[in-house]
Amino acid sequence: MCGIVGYIGERRSAQEVLVDGLRRLEYRGYDSGGVAVWNGSELAIRRAVGKLANLERLLYDDPVAGSVGIGHTRWATHGKPSEGNAHPHRAGRVAIVHNGIVENYHEIRDALDAAGREILSETDTELVAHLIDQEVETGLDLMTAVRNATGKLIGSYALAVISTSDPDTIVVAKNGGSPLIVGLGQGETFLGSDIPAILPYTREMLFLLDGEYAALHRDGVQIVDEQGHLVERETKRISWDPVSAEKGGFDHFMQKEIFEQPRAIRDTIGTRILEGSLDLDLDGIDLSPERAKTIDRVIFVACGTASYAAMIGKYLIEQLVGIPAEVDLASEYRYRQPVVDQGCLLVPISQSGETADTLAALREGRERGAQVLSICNTRESTIARESHDVLYTQAGPEIGVASTKCFTTQLVALQLLALKLGISRQSLSAEQVSRSFDELRRLPRIIEETLELDGEIREVAQRYFRAPNFLFLGRGVMYPIAMEGALKLKEISYIHAEGYAAGEMKHGPIALIDENMPVVVIANQSSVYEKVVSNLEEVRARDGKIIAIASIGDEAIQTKSDAVIRIPELGDYLTALVATIPVQLLAYHIATLKGTDVDQPRNLAKSVTVE
Ligand code: AGP
Repeated sequence: MCGIVGYIGERRSAQEVLVDGLRRLEYRGYDSGGVAVWNGSELAIRRAVGKLANLERLLYDDPVAGSVGIGHTRWATHGKPSEGNAHPHRAGRVAIVHNGIVENYHEIRDALDAAGREILSETDTELVAHLIDQEVETGLDLMTAVRNATGKLIGSYALAVISTSDPDTIVVAKNGGSPLIVGLGQGETFLGSDIPAILPYTREMLFLLDGEYAALHRDGVQIVDEQGHLVERETKRISWDPVSAEKGGFDHFMQKEIFEQPRAIRDTIGTRILEGSLDLDLDGIDLSPERAKTIDRVIFVACGTASYAAMIGKYLIEQLVGIPAEVDLASEYRYRQPVVDQGCLLVPISQSGETADTLAALREGRERGAQVLSICNTRESTIARESHDVLYTQAGPEIGVASTKCFTTQLVALQLLALKLGISRQSLSAEQVSRSFDELRRLPRIIEETLELDGEIREVAQRYFRAPNFLFLGRGVMYPIAMEGALKLKEISYIHAEGYAAGEMKHGPIALIDENMPVVVIANQSSVYEKVVSNLEEVRARDGKIIAIASIGDEAIQTKSDAVIRIPELGDYLTALVATIPVQLLAYHIATLKGTDVDQPRNLAKSVTVE
């Protein structure tokens, strides 16, 4: 996710405040950065690809003096990481930094070309700068110019603008995109896309809402709505210490990332559903009918949590596309002498893009002729670079070692991939595609609702956190979720936990059941509901403690369970993603009750770059 900072004052060097603020946003991930500063006569812009150290070196060699400026770190989504695509972007009198996506990019680009505007970058942000400059050119003040220009945009944006026409103002606009937070100082005003960026300078902050604009001056800020009417907004005093600020006020990065999932899912869907059509654009990856016909088998390779996402990918491909799909643990695949040919689409799944086993499996399959399309969360990672195509999740950097938002965004990416292949191979009816698109659009809201179960799940954790063992059971797409729930629990609480296909109970695990064994059973209303309930009753008959994850409205299951967590339904596949939330929260709360290191569990690394 991109980072935005701004400063207007007298007491400090804008470049120092901007770079310091961008450093405090580094945890959001980025691949380029830049600043624009009014130096009294012009807008001086410095931009650099890669780490902020490169920008700092540039500023050391060629500093920009001045006390009004904006800064940005970019996480490339459209247009590769490059100096030319880095923000700030300039057009005429205006410099701008932006987070979000302009969906009507092409129409705006055509209009600016027709107006003779020279466009230098691949970004939608530069187009917005030109729109604002066109308004400034007519003599409008910067706030009015920004309101007029953004009125032409379709999409999400959080943006900050400075201009030679109004050098004593920073204008910001918010409509989706990242948060925009204004910090009030004495004779100086700060801007950040997250609290940590400006917390060292002030604790008095106010938060812009969607549809609002603000003009930042040295002596304060003026907020207006889309109609230009003044908005009164009370400031909040932020009491966080800087470290907890990076956790967004949460106790752990893992907790923050669990609650970030609606945003991460929304960003991963992005503009990939082509509104008004029954098709998808997966970042330009060629999955046309011609290409899709060349694929007769899909092979998923991954490790750990990503391998459970791959298991769901198998269901999606077989049921939505109608071609064979298989899942291999990457550490096994790489030594298996796999049978591969050009008709195979090899899909490595990896949030880090650096997992040694997954990389080795990728190389094994590619050398044997497979087409490689990776699902990855980290741009420019080794797996991304060695793939023919990459379908990126947009979870933003995941700091907690236990994967949460990367897993659920992998499930979204797999759904998009399966739908695209199904559309291209005409294995889906228009009604199926339309229904899936509606489910995806509803998903972020449904996840927000499911996260409201947090308190209830903490109470369940308090009842069972002392258990020495746990069993997780599920059938169909819920079997991988049972596996993921068990992994989450064991890796952060150190409690032994096993995930099992519910149908496997009678083939051994049932011997483990007694009054000391909590069993999490994912028993949502599905085609196998009755089967799962009979497994649940087998556990109950042996005094096992049942924690049922059930559908809202299922009253019958109450009498068969010791605890019931009710989740909303969202179709055959996305309900698996919804069911992930309770198992993540259960693991989190049990671990915090046990006092283990939730973000950095013992023996674990965030990315296993060795065999
Ligand atoms: C998941 O919580 C674990 N951290 C681990 O299983 C992880 O999923 C696995 O190491 C794969 O990592 P990757 O997605 O970066 O390839």
